[in-house]
Amino acid sequence: MKASPAADFERLYALGTGFQVAEILFAAIRLGFFSALAAGPVTGKSLAKKLNLSPDALGRFMFALKNLGLIEERNGACIKTPLSKNYLGAAEAENYSDMLIHLETLKSSWANLSYSLKKGTMHAPRKEALADYPRQLKRFLSAMHAYGAVKSAAICRLFPLHRYRHLLDIGGGMGTYAVAFAQKNSRLQATVFDLETVVPHAKKYIRQCGMGRRVSVAHGECRSDPFPGNDYDLVLLSNILHIYAPGDARSIIKKAARALQSSGTLLIHDYIAGCGDQVLVSLFDMTMLVGTPEGRCHARTDLCQWMKAAGLSRIRTKAVNAGTSIMWGIKK
Ligand SMILES: C[S@@+](CC[C@H](N)C(=O)[O-])C[C@H]1O[C@@H](n2cnc3c(N)ncnc32)[C@H](O)[C@@H]1O
Repeated sequence: MKASPAADFERLYALGTGFQVAEILFAAIRLGFFSALAAGPVTGKSLAKKLNLSPDALGRFMFALKNLGLIEERNGACIKTPLSKNYLGAAEAENYSDMLIHLETLKSSWANLSYSLKKGTMHAPRKEALADYPRQLKRFLSAMHAYGAVKSAAICRLFPLHRYRHLLDIGGGMGTYAVAFAQKNSRLQATVFDLETVVPHAKKYIRQCGMGRRVSVAHGECRSDPFPGNDYDLVLLSNILHIYAPGDARSIIKKAARALQSSGTLLIHDYIAGCGDQVLVSLFDMTMLVGTPEGRCHARTDLCQWMKAAGLSRIRTKAVNAGTSIMWGIKK
């Protein structure tokens, strides 16, 4: 049925105001608004004093947060809703603030979307951004870790991990997935393979988790350096193929399959065109357009073809959550 002009207007208006909702969320996190509510109800007046904000502007801001379901009012004071109580604010165990702040850092590259649409690639990074690399890397890895904590738990439920004993996690970042998989399957030994600059972060995290005896780390460049061994029964490519153009992604899959023993499994976890929430996949694809030289969300049909060409069969796909999916195949 055709929507009414008023409904069409509302839909377009809602699409156009999406950035405003995100800005409110980012500002609340940056200002420490949710952390200030961690101990319990606080009045607007004392919040304004604590956060050094204009009482009038904060009152209006709180009205917006209330309408977005992020705070509630009780007896004239402000409290968190279950959503912000469970996931936003420094005191919480599962804290998604890092993930949201990471989304905020994408704003500068998204501002170049028109440029990227004309040129077909990202705008050259600013010199200041390159100079800030160590700090940015730390922030990036902690954001990947925040996503990974949720996604790896979901993959543990969706994928038959208990069958495996020896994992290679290519582009494994801080080791979030390798640690989660090894915690789930006590007979699994894992190796995280990543760039040299990432390795100290992975070692630190793995040590903190007390998993150093079962999860090791090796450094290298996955397209040009050899992998540490070729007798894995599980190789994971999580969120790495989207950084690369189809040709490179195909070669990485081929090389990853070579690191498998016969009957081993190649497991891909990524934003895949044709599987999972396609709005989120397409937004992520634009993030790759504006933020990487050649990255993109690869199509399920292409991945399937590259996996078959790498000697894999019995290929299966399952949606994970928030746009990502897993796809796996067995080496003949
Ligand atoms: C988007 S992060 C994904 C991290 C983790 N696998 C996850 O799913 O959260 C991509 C990771 O791949 C690593 N990486 C990218 N290109 C690489 C390459 N050519 N060789 C080795 N590691 C690479 C990055 O350093 C980073 O840790």
